This record gives sequence, structure tokens and C-alpha cells, in this order.
Amino acid sequence: MTGATADLFEALPGPGLSQRLMAPDAVLLGGFARGKDEGEALVCAVEAVIASAPLRHLVTPGGYTMSVAMTNCGALGWVSDRAGYRYEALDPLSGRPWPAMPACLLELAVRAAAQVGFAHFRPDACLVNCYEPGARLSLHQDKDELDLSAPIVSVSLGLPVVFLFGTTLRSDRPGRHWLAHGDVVVWGGAARLAYHGVAPLADGHHARLGRRRINLTFRTVR
Ligand code: SIN
Ligand code: FE2
Repeated sequence: MTGATADLFEALPGPGLSQRLMAPDAVLLGGFARGKDEGEALVCAVEAVIASAPLRHLVTPGGYTMSVAMTNCGALGWVSDRAGYRYEALDPLSGRPWPAMPACLLELAVRAAAQVGFAHFRPDACLVNCYEPGARLSLHQDKDELDLSAPIVSVSLGLPVVFLFGTTLRSDRPGRHWLAHGDVVVWGGAARLAYHGVAPLADGHHARLGRRRINLTFRTVR
């Protein structure tokens, strides 16, 4: 994180809400999904998705088993195997379509995107990542989507973690940002292809999710 813009911080109307610029075109909406009933509704919706398309540890093209467990909802789901990274309309585990994107999740993602100026965000994929203590996600770009004009919207639930957010150059050292239950990040525009990752999850206990962090990323693939 460099420059004056990285520290811009603004309180939003509403208890515990804040808005912080992590990098140009990358905004952390603190507490955006932390409404009393909203958090519970989101967790229930995610649990329903996981019940019909179970979490699984994908294998990278290089043969490495990811520490993060993943599933998807929406028309398309992100998958990885020895053949590569891609979006698929069918869950390879069941051969069935991914579960539909629950309305409360879609509505939250659309509202968060609009909050930072991305009107008309219509995600067709939502990747569900589940981290247990020690799980991490190495620095990467989200670039398997065809529509790079649409932002990525990320919703964090459960245990807090350090989110790494850099630039479009892998060699630039990323900034470190705590993401807690109900925090939302939106990145697009100049930040759409920024490298990002997740530091190893520290052990802890979250009142609703226990020893887990769940992250949802909403994407427009096509
Ligand atoms: C991702 O980059 O796909 C997920 C990021 C996160 O878990 O916060
Ligand atoms: Fe990502």
C-alpha cells in the first residue's frame, strides 16, 4: 500500500460502517454486511449452498491440493483440476448445476457494488471459500472472467484474517488489511487485475461459524 490515497477513511452513515480506499478503485466497506439479521441470513444461505454442493479441496494444474475448501453458487462455478482453472456450469462432483445464487447474497453484492459506483453489477458466479486455521490463498489475479469491466465483490464471514492487496505487478509488496465478519471489499477498474491473497488463518472461535472463515466472491464471468 503506497501513497496518500491508501489511508483515506470515511465513516458511512450507520453504526460501525466505514469506507476505506485500499488502493485506487479498491474499497473496503467495513461492516457493510454486519446488520443484526443480515449476517444470520447470509450464513444460513451459505449453509444451504454448501448442503447441496459440498465444500471440496481442489487440485491446482500443478498438482497442489489447495488448503482452502471451495464450492460455488450461481450459473457458473470456478473449478480447478490438473487440466486448468475455469468456470463450469455443472458441479463436477455431482454433474448437476451449481445451486442458484440465494437472493440475499445477490442483493448484498449488487448493493455493495453500487455503493462504490459500479451500478448494474450482475454477477453470474459466486465462489464460496472456506478457511480453517492455517489455510491460506497465495497471491493471484482473478482473470478467468470474460468481463473485466465488472468488479469483484468479496464478503467475509466468521473469523478475521489478513487480506493481502497489491497492484497489477506481482513483485509489488501488497498492503495488509484485516477483514472481519461482515466486511465487504469491492475492487474493479484500475484494481480489477490487482494481485491479492489471504494470509494463513489464525485459530480462534467465531460465535456463529466456529473455527472457520467463509469468504464469498461475486464475479461476472460472461
Ligand atoms: C479470492 O481471492 O478468491 C478470495 C479472497 C478471500 O478469501 O478473501
Ligand atoms: Fe481472488
